[in-house]
Amino acid sequence: MEITSTFMHVLLLFYTLLSYIFSKKQKRKPKQKAKLPPGSMGWPYMGETLQLYSQDPSDFFAKRQRRYGDVFKTNILGCPSVMLASPEGVRFVLVTQAHLFKPTYPKSKEKMIGPSALFFHEGDYHTHLRKLVQSSLSPEALRRLIPGIEAIAISALESWASKQVINTFHEMKEFAFEVGILSVFGYLDGKYREELKENYCIVDKGYNSFPTNLPGTAYHKAILARNRIGQILSEIICERKEKKQLEKDLLGHLLNFKDEKGQTLTEDQIADNIIGVLFAAQDTTASVLTWILKYLHDDQKLLEAVKAEQKAIYELNDEGKRPLTWAQTRNMPLTYKVILESMRTASIISFTFREAVVDVEYKGYLIPKGWKVMPLFRNIHHNPEFFPDPKHFDPSRFDVAPKPNTFMPFGNGVHACPGNELAKLEMLVLIQHLVTKSRWEVVESQNGIEYGPFPVPLQGLPAKFWRESSTQEE
Ligand code: HEM
Repeated sequence: MEITSTFMHVLLLFYTLLSYIFSKKQKRKPKQKAKLPPGSMGWPYMGETLQLYSQDPSDFFAKRQRRYGDVFKTNILGCPSVMLASPEGVRFVLVTQAHLFKPTYPKSKEKMIGPSALFFHEGDYHTHLRKLVQSSLSPEALRRLIPGIEAIAISALESWASKQVINTFHEMKEFAFEVGILSVFGYLDGKYREELKENYCIVDKGYNSFPTNLPGTAYHKAILARNRIGQILSEIICERKEKKQLEKDLLGHLLNFKDEKGQTLTEDQIADNIIGVLFAAQDTTASVLTWILKYLHDDQKLLEAVKAEQKAIYELNDEGKRPLTWAQTRNMPLTYKVILESMRTASIISFTFREAVVDVEYKGYLIPKGWKVMPLFRNIHHNPEFFPDPKHFDPSRFDVAPKPNTFMPFGNGVHACPGNELAKLEMLVLIQHLVTKSRWEVVESQNGIEYGPFPVPLQGLPAKFWRESSTQEE
C-alpha cells in the first residue's frame, strides 16, 4: 500500500514537473499565428478593382505573381481575396480541402440564373443534381447526339456562307445554344425553341450589366425575360409529363429523379438547372470555337494538316453522306490537340471563385474565414515551367500529357465541368464540317482581345465564309 502511495506521489511530481516545463516552453515559444499572404489591398473599399479593370486581367495577376509569389492577397470590389497561382494551391482549394471552401457568386447572378442551379450548392443536393447532369451527358448519351450536332453544324455553315460578313463569336453562340437545347430537351418544338432563344438573348445581355432593377435597364429587362423563360419551361415540362415517356435527355433525368425519401424536384429546381446548364454551355464553348478559328486562320500550315486529317474521315464516310461515328470522333488526334492548345492559350476561364468557410492555413499563410479565394488557371496555363514558350501556339506540346494539375480548362474537383466531353465533341464535329466544306477569311484581322466577360478576339472575329466548291469572288 505504502509503496503504491509513494509511487503515486513520484508520478504526480513527475507529471507536475513535466507540465511545468511544457508550459514554460509554450510561454517561451508562443504558437506562431499564420500571417496573411503578401500583396496589396489597394484603396479603402475599392481595393485594387480599378487596377484590375483598367488592364488585361492576365497582366494584373501575372505582375503580382512575379512580385509576391504563388500566393498573394488583394481586394476586388470590396472583397478581400487570396489568389493562388500554383498547381498545388489550386488542388488544395478545389480538391483536397474543398470542404473548407464554398462556391460564391454575386446575388444578382444567382437571381438571374435561378438559386437552385447546381453550381451555387454543395452537399447532397449538389451531388444529386450533378449525377443527373452527368448521366444526361454520359458517353452513351453523347453518342446518340452526334447526328443532331452534325445537322446543327451543317445548317450553321450554310447560313454563314449566305451572309456577307459574320461575327464569328455571335454565330458560335447560336451553334452552342442549339447544341445545348439538343442535349437538354432532345427534340424541341420550333415554337418553344424560338421563344426560349428570344428571351434567353435578353437574359444574356442583362447578365453582365450593372444590377439595377429599374424599368428600362438591361438588368430589369433580363429579370422579366428570365421569368418568361420560367413560364415557357413550365409549359414544356407539363407537355412532357403528359407524354409519360422516359426520355434520356437532361429534362427526362430531372423529371424522373427521386431522392432517398422519394422526394422529386420542384418545377423551379428543374427550370433553374436547365437555365444553368444552357448558360454554362454557351459562351464558354463559343469563345473556344472562335479562338480555334483564329488560331487555324493564323497558321495555314496547321490548317492544312487539320484539313488532311478531317478529309480522310470525310472520304471514308462517302464524302460526308454517312454520319460521323463515335469511334471517328475519338480518333482525330491532331484536331483534338488543336482544341486542347486553344483552351490552354486562350484560357477563357482565367480563374474561379470560392469562399473560405473557416480560417484556413495554407503554406504558413492565413486565409481568413469569409475571404474569397481565386485559383488562377490562366497563370498556370501560361507558366513557362509547365508550358515552355507559353505564348506560342503549339498543339504538339500535347503529344505528352501535361503534369498533373497544370492543365485545368474545365476546372477540378467536385464542381469540375460535367459538360467537358460534350464541349469537345461539338467542337470536333463542327471542325469536321468546317474544314471539309468551307473556307474562311478573317476580315480586318486585328490582334487583340475583348472581354464579354470571357476573352474573345476583337469584335468577335469578323469573318467571311465560302462553301468549298464556290470561289471567293462569288
Ligand atoms: C469549352 C467549353 C467549356 C469550358 C471551358 C467549361 C469550363 C468550366 C469550368 C472551369 C467549370 C468549373 C467552375 C468552378 O469550379 O467554379 C465548369 C462548370 C460547369 N460546367 Fe462547364 N465548361 C464548358 C462547357 C460546358 C458545357 C457544354 C456544359 C453543359 C452541357 C457545361 C456545364 C457546366 C456545369 C453544369 C458546371 C457546374 C458544375 C458544378 O458546379 O458541379 N460546361 N465549366
